[in-house]
Amino acid sequence: MTTMLGRLRVAVAMLALAAFAFMALPAAAQQPTSVNPTASSVKEEQLFQELQRIQGRGTIPDKKSYVLEQPEGRNWQMFHNNGMRWLGAIAILGILALLVLFYLIRGMVRIDGGRSGRTIVRFNAFERFVHWMTATCFIILAISGLNITFGKPLLLPLIGPNAFSVWSQWAKYAHNFLSFPFTLGVILILLMWIAGNIPNKVDVAWLKQGGGLVGNKHPPARKFNAGQKLIYWIVVLGGGSVAATGYLLMFPFYGTDIAGMQFAQMIHGSFALLFVAAMLAHIYIGTIGMEGAFEAMGTGEVDTNWAKQHHSLWAEQAMQQQGAKPQTPPAAPGSMVPAE
Ligand code: HEM
Repeated sequence: MTTMLGRLRVAVAMLALAAFAFMALPAAAQQPTSVNPTASSVKEEQLFQELQRIQGRGTIPDKKSYVLEQPEGRNWQMFHNNGMRWLGAIAILGILALLVLFYLIRGMVRIDGGRSGRTIVRFNAFERFVHWMTATCFIILAISGLNITFGKPLLLPLIGPNAFSVWSQWAKYAHNFLSFPFTLGVILILLMWIAGNIPNKVDVAWLKQGGGLVGNKHPPARKFNAGQKLIYWIVVLGGGSVAATGYLLMFPFYGTDIAGMQFAQMIHGSFALLFVAAMLAHIYIGTIGMEGAFEAMGTGEVDTNWAKQHHSLWAEQAMQQQGAKPQTPPAAPGSMVPAE
């Protein structure tokens, strides 16, 4: 009997030992056999996948700072580093390629029959000042903004980290401070030219005839044709959107939360890149694309033949009101004067 009891005790003890060893097996199997240097990041990734966010505890009042990672942040980063760069590259390089192609096919749109040598006022000094102030700010905002989007992959490897940090810091100051005169310029442009930029029936006819750029017809137009009206609304609405979203970014969390900041940044960056592409087309027409156009914003006066060709309805009215004055020195009739 005693031997039976003794054997039973041994059997129970062995069973208990086996059960204990079996239970401990999975834990033992998970023990790393060697040190894995990426173990912590793997765990972070697992944690993130399970919880969808990595959040801790903090002592400062700003509770937003306790969140270290969240899914929207990753989506935003993906868009910033991929989608937005592709959008900008396609829009900007695409429009440049189209403009080169257009120039090779169509060349500069000349003044038919040359210059008359007589001019009329198109824009006064205040209008030209507002235009150039806004344009100068725009160009610097565009270059400094493009540095945020493309600087790291494109410029940093070329100029090195020291030069890149110095340049980026100045670019950032310029982007912040020039936003104020730029916004003022957009508001003044809205007020100064809105009356001439409301779409009407003349624009429909102008567009149907390709605006004189496609083909050789020169459809009638008032002070601003449909193409210029499009540029006006891009500047007013595009400028207004980049300004509004830009200030949300410049003064973080005063106007919105994290999701709002991410949305503002996506709108700001994408609209700005499309805005740059649109302005390249505007700059093309105002310089090498059309003879006599630059003078409108340069001296403020345009040749009457240019005015009749591109803005016949306005030219008629303006010549009656102003009486065209001869240019000094008067150009020989039919002579070719290069566009500025
Ligand atoms: C009132 C006008 C504007 C304000 C207040 C403003 C403000 C800002 C701010 C605060 C940022 C974020 C900078 C950072 O991450 O450190 C930014 C980025 C940027 N801005 Fe502006 N901006 C304005 C106008 C413009 C204009 C006119 C353009 C282009 C023509 C432009 C293009 C960009 C671009 C491309 C970025 C980088 C987007 C990115 O990759 O994250 N901005 N802007």
